[in-house]
Amino acid sequence: MNDREIVEKLEELECQLEFYQELGVDFLVSQSNAERLNKKETGQLIHLETTDNQAGDEEAEWERLTRQILGCRFCPLFKMRTQAVPGEGNRKARLMFVGEAPGKDEDLQGRPFVGRAGQLLTKIIQAMGFDRQQVYIANVVKCRPPENRTPKPDEVKACSPYLVKQIELIKPKVIVALGKVATEFLLQTTRSMSELRGNFGEYRGIPVMPTFHPSYLIRNEGNKEIKKMVWEDMKKVMKLLET
Ligand code: URA
Repeated sequence: MNDREIVEKLEELECQLEFYQELGVDFLVSQSNAERLNKKETGQLIHLETTDNQAGDEEAEWERLTRQILGCRFCPLFKMRTQAVPGEGNRKARLMFVGEAPGKDEDLQGRPFVGRAGQLLTKIIQAMGFDRQQVYIANVVKCRPPENRTPKPDEVKACSPYLVKQIELIKPKVIVALGKVATEFLLQTTRSMSELRGNFGEYRGIPVMPTFHPSYLIRNEGNKEIKKMVWEDMKKVMKLLET
């Protein structure tokens, strides 16, 4: 590494530490902790003793599902999309994040959470000791609503079977519901985020932690309390993953 690269690396680290401070991160997940958490992923795989056949079947199901999502015309959003955004990450993840719907950047790139909100989510995932490839990230609605408006109930109804299938295939140990749309769908409730966040609910036997959407954190950038609340929620998720 040359001097310039070292300075750039240090600046990047400084930014990351500043963000952790704002979140209220009071510890850093050490490499060994991250490895320990991830080893369970491998353990789970071994425990499932997936046969080649099963693995092949699952692969085929993923392929079919992805093809269906990419070609979906079940709601009018298909007319406005550049492309649908199925989701990405580890298909055996123990931790899954579910957002609302793709925004402009996601629609252009075909990947979930790659815009500003996505960068924030990535930092939160890293603060938890993971990287994006170790978790699975998806949305309730797979196509971008115009002007990033909230998806309509009919759009959620038409699109949610894809998320249901993704959860069925991944079988995560815990799901983080990012914001109102994901929380309402997974927990079938219309109670407010402030009431719900911080307490596990359940989706088909899987613990679901509702928390504020990263876009909400961006809209309320000056409010450090909200960031701290999100971190409190994530600490509960990490604790559950350790068991
Ligand atoms: N907001 C979401 O809910 N999902 C994305 O993929 C991006 C922004």
